[in-house]
Amino acid sequence: MSISRFAKTLSGWAAVLPAVLLPLAACLTAPVAMADSQPLQPRQMLPAYQQECAACHLAYPPGLLPVRSWSHLMSGLDRHYGTDASLDPAAVQQISHWLHANAGTYKRVQEAPPEDRITRSAWFQRKHRELDVAVWRHASVKSEANCAACHTRAEQGRFGDGELRFPAGLDARYRRAFED
Ligand code: HEC
Ligand code: HEC
Repeated sequence: MSISRFAKTLSGWAAVLPAVLLPLAACLTAPVAMADSQPLQPRQMLPAYQQECAACHLAYPPGLLPVRSWSHLMSGLDRHYGTDASLDPAAVQQISHWLHANAGTYKRVQEAPPEDRITRSAWFQRKHRELDVAVWRHASVKSEANCAACHTRAEQGRFGDGELRFPAGLDARYRRAFED
């Protein structure tokens, strides 16, 4: 996947901010903002990050949170969203260093969201406001944080419209938000 594809996706977000359901064409034709052309998921994944931070959930793309959130999160792993995700100091240091180097710097991600949750970010809430609570709670989704339930390329940091899937077993009336 090319950096320019990411850039298009990112500038696409900026372009579609006021309206949620713009066609994909809008993203593809939006001008590329160079300041925002940073990939969400670095080309080189840190093995320790995948090993330690993808045991319980997706290896969240570092570009989805600012440095401040990652720092805070990495300094409280013993109290990690109701679980203990502690690591030895060397691993904490290595992962923190990599997260800092690859943290989000573009507009959307500048402010640290409440609880350092990607899912509490303003852009996240806006992008998903069409989804019903029943969708998040469904057995095949379980949580907003379970990106891969709906985004087939989430591992690669890709969240485009063409890479969505409708979670299995979900009532068809919720399908609208997945198609535009
Ligand atoms: C022992 C299991 C476990 C490990 C290991 C773990 N996490 Fe988590 N993490 C969780 C749980 C549970 C949640 C809350 C998920 C939810 O709300 O659905 C979470 C949530 C998160 C979130 C917020 C997701 C959101 O709501 O936007 C981030 C970011 C995160 N983890 C990063 C990390 C990083 C970085 C590491 C590695 C240092 C890590 N996690 C390791 C269990 C774990
Ligand atoms: C229950 C399914 C579901 C889950 C879980 C989910 N999303 Fe989404 N997401 C969607 C749908 C549907 C859209 C398309 C909304 C639209 O276009 O109106 C979307 C849109 C997006 C977009 C905007 C893409 C674009 O091109 O504008 C991003 C970025 C995104 N999601 C990231 C995430 C991340 C990161 C997570 C996990 C922390 C996540 N999503 C979890 C269903 C989901």
